[in-house]
Amino acid sequence: MRVIIEPNYERLSEWAANYVVNKINAAQPTAEHPFILGLPTGSSPIGMYQGLIRAYKEGRVSFKNVVTFNMDEYVGLPEEHPESYHSFMKENLFNHIDCPAENIHILNGNAPDLLEECAKYEKQIREAGGIDLFIGGIGPDGHIAFNEPGSSLSSRTRIKTLTTDTRVANSRFFGGNPENVPAQALTVGVGTVMSAKEVLILCNGHNKSRALQAAVEGPVTQMWTISSLQLHPHGIIVCDEAACEEIKHGTYRFFKDVERDNL
Ligand code: GLP
Repeated sequence: MRVIIEPNYERLSEWAANYVVNKINAAQPTAEHPFILGLPTGSSPIGMYQGLIRAYKEGRVSFKNVVTFNMDEYVGLPEEHPESYHSFMKENLFNHIDCPAENIHILNGNAPDLLEECAKYEKQIREAGGIDLFIGGIGPDGHIAFNEPGSSLSSRTRIKTLTTDTRVANSRFFGGNPENVPAQALTVGVGTVMSAKEVLILCNGHNKSRALQAAVEGPVTQMWTISSLQLHPHGIIVCDEAACEEIKHGTYRFFKDVERDNL
């Protein structure tokens, strides 16, 4: 696992956006062989999305031959609700770049048959040839997508009931009342994310420091689903200084030294 420690959120976002731009450009995607990108929501990726939009506007990247799969979506929230992940993605990325609508995949939390919707999503990912780069954030409890503590580390796309912790954390988008946060979500599984060729996790802020510690220094455990990244051959976490509060000084130094040698 690589751990990239940037001084602050702005630099972390810039690093992540440049990484994605370079990956897409290096793949030289075509309509026949598109680049397959897994995408997150939440506040963590917003700075990276702004960087990607800037790169597109400056002509440094095109999303014409990029196919996207989002991580998750609330169950029962209308697509046009301002807090749906459909709305979030339009507002923060898709309305500002040249990714064709038919290349964009987001789970439908209002599908008549939710189980079928999840199975269809996995099939679409398979048929696309798998995800080249899956980008994710993490919850303060170490969840990836909506894979709450206790989720199977080999899980695939399915319905999950959200924990009280997550409903409280996300209530800031729903008028501050956890009861207003949908109780369930459709989410890719830990196994779905870990099947990607590469996984890039964004982790910023003091409230993520316990999750970062568990991800980097703790054992692989279903109680911190992000810890499964330790088993991935190409896992990267890009974090800021604030998120490093709980990791050991030696761990911090190790990753700083390794990345200095990488330059
Ligand atoms: C939600 C999303 C996750 C995200 C997490 C952290 O629970 N389902 O994918 O990583 O929030 O969000 P934030 O980046 O706002 O801290």
